[in-house]
Amino acid sequence: MMSRKYVSLVVLMFLCFHASITEGQQAIYEDPNQPIERRIKDLLGKMNLEEKVGQMTQIERTNATADAMKSYFIGSVLSGGGSAPKVNATPKEWMDMVNGLQQAALSTRLGIPMIYGIDAVHGHNNVANATIFPHNVGLGVTRDPQLVMQIGGVTALEVRATGIHYAFAPCLAVCRDPRWGRCYESYSEDHTIVQQLTTLIDGLQGIPPGDMKGMPYVHGKTKVAGCSKHYVGDGGTVNGINENNTIVDDSTLYGIHMPAYVNSIAKSIATVMASYSSVNGVKMHANKQLLTDHLKGKLGFQGFVISDWQGIDRITSPPHSNYTYSIQASVTAGVDMIMVPYEYKEFINGLIDLVKKNVIPMSRIDDAVTRILRVKFATGLFEYPLGDYSLVNEVGSQTHRELARRAVRKSLVLLKNGKPGNPTLLPLPKITGKILVTGTHANNLGYQCGGWTIEWQGVSGNNWTAGTTILEAVKKTVDKKTKVVYKMNPSKDYPEKTNLDFAIVVVGEVPYAETRGDSTNLTIPDPGPHIIENICKNTKCVVVLISGRPVVIEPYLDKIDALVAAWLPGSEGQGVADVLFGDFGFTGKLARTWFKRVDQLPMNVGDPSYDPLFPFGFGLETQPTSQTTDTVKLEL
Ligand code: GLC
Repeated sequence: MMSRKYVSLVVLMFLCFHASITEGQQAIYEDPNQPIERRIKDLLGKMNLEEKVGQMTQIERTNATADAMKSYFIGSVLSGGGSAPKVNATPKEWMDMVNGLQQAALSTRLGIPMIYGIDAVHGHNNVANATIFPHNVGLGVTRDPQLVMQIGGVTALEVRATGIHYAFAPCLAVCRDPRWGRCYESYSEDHTIVQQLTTLIDGLQGIPPGDMKGMPYVHGKTKVAGCSKHYVGDGGTVNGINENNTIVDDSTLYGIHMPAYVNSIAKSIATVMASYSSVNGVKMHANKQLLTDHLKGKLGFQGFVISDWQGIDRITSPPHSNYTYSIQASVTAGVDMIMVPYEYKEFINGLIDLVKKNVIPMSRIDDAVTRILRVKFATGLFEYPLGDYSLVNEVGSQTHRELARRAVRKSLVLLKNGKPGNPTLLPLPKITGKILVTGTHANNLGYQCGGWTIEWQGVSGNNWTAGTTILEAVKKTVDKKTKVVYKMNPSKDYPEKTNLDFAIVVVGEVPYAETRGDSTNLTIPDPGPHIIENICKNTKCVVVLISGRPVVIEPYLDKIDALVAAWLPGSEGQGVADVLFGDFGFTGKLARTWFKRVDQLPMNVGDPSYDPLFPFGFGLETQPTSQTTDTVKLEL
């Protein structure tokens, strides 16, 4: 009869022997030479339910402790709008933070890397001193797929330069009503322009080789996983009310709001974000027909569907009032990763419970995790999970800023140039006596960048990030003999008006994001209209409008000599002066209808009763005073 001690010794020896022969062997999922689908199958087969549900969980960085990452097998972390390691964090400090969370994820039993996401929607806009590009409302005016692809490439590079792997962009909304607070995130009211500019995905992720088309594809260390959003119909809600109901027939849904998602899948988009809004009364986060049957079935999407921020909570009214139902309805409908972002224990325990009770089949969990792993393998996270510190100086580089400056130039639309009987005002002379630069937006970098810049709702002032205000740009552009006077909001009988040759009046909307931008009147906030009237009644004036959309301008139009729509140009205000003073010509054409009155809305090109102030496609042109080629060489 063998003693207990002897048996234990034999077992111990066997375990040591087994460990020694398997220790050197690499699991299939760890082998980069194996096909991705084989690696997924191998890894999935090793995972338990807790590890699978952890992969489906995305949490906000403020509650992403190392312990949470390890104990709950968290698969993804995000920075919500404005959520930085600290104010003015450097790219290295960002990378240190992301790498720290990654090390915690890698220390779990199977060492599955986490994927970190952020809203890099017009450059790497959460990060101080990053290059801030014009918002999509301006890029739509350029109608330049190549330019937008370059912007995607620069954005991806600057995102990876902070150690982050995933950008919640592009927004493919087809904004059909400018009263919507997110209309500036939409390229155009015309879906063909939105489709054309899905080239942002090529820039963000890289262009997939022929045999990879449709499968998630992210080409290397300077590219990021993209996210086409918000699926579907986010820009078509009733009266532009954010997160509301999009009431459409099939031809509108599939003919206007859906086409850009087809382009996205052909470009191997890695992820798609569900919209808060509803289609014909069905919440998109609970819409199995559109999320699974159409997107994954008919269109063949192979990446993962991510919820929006607390998107599953908002399935119910009031939000989070029946979280178990929210979990069940969203995961069943086809949401694969849930942007929780705070109540992750409640989410994880709730989903595990629903699986254990067979309310949600394990097959649905396995499908979701398969899609998530597919994106992680495609993004190279298993091979190089940690950020590359050699990239940190790419953030806000001069070459990137030159590209943004070019995008600003091409985004401007000249709506008026001269009054009847008066000569055209633009391009302005660089050599003259005295000019006045005035207005709330003339010397405010935060205003010219708009929402989703440093903070979720944007910022005001010039100390938040690097860039060039329009005032600074004018001063740099004019001849040194020309006197430039600045007054943000001159008094009624402003003394500066003496011997003025002309005035540049820069006014518009203050930054906003999402519902805070919803508007029923679309007026230019005070004191903008007063500044226009006060200055333009005495002096030749060019008004430069900084806005996320067309705004009420007709009442002042006859007083204005020249009118420029600059939208939300971003950090490189020099692009505005380049065109105002003739180094480059105006080329932009409206990608949105400019209404006369708000009571005409919604009003889009092609509507039977179409009576705009400036029609879709309108834009006056000017010739550059010197022959300069407008290109920026970039190796991306
Ligand atoms: C926001 C937005 C979405 C963004 C997400 C993460 O509420 O709807 O566009 O990507 O949350 O910040």
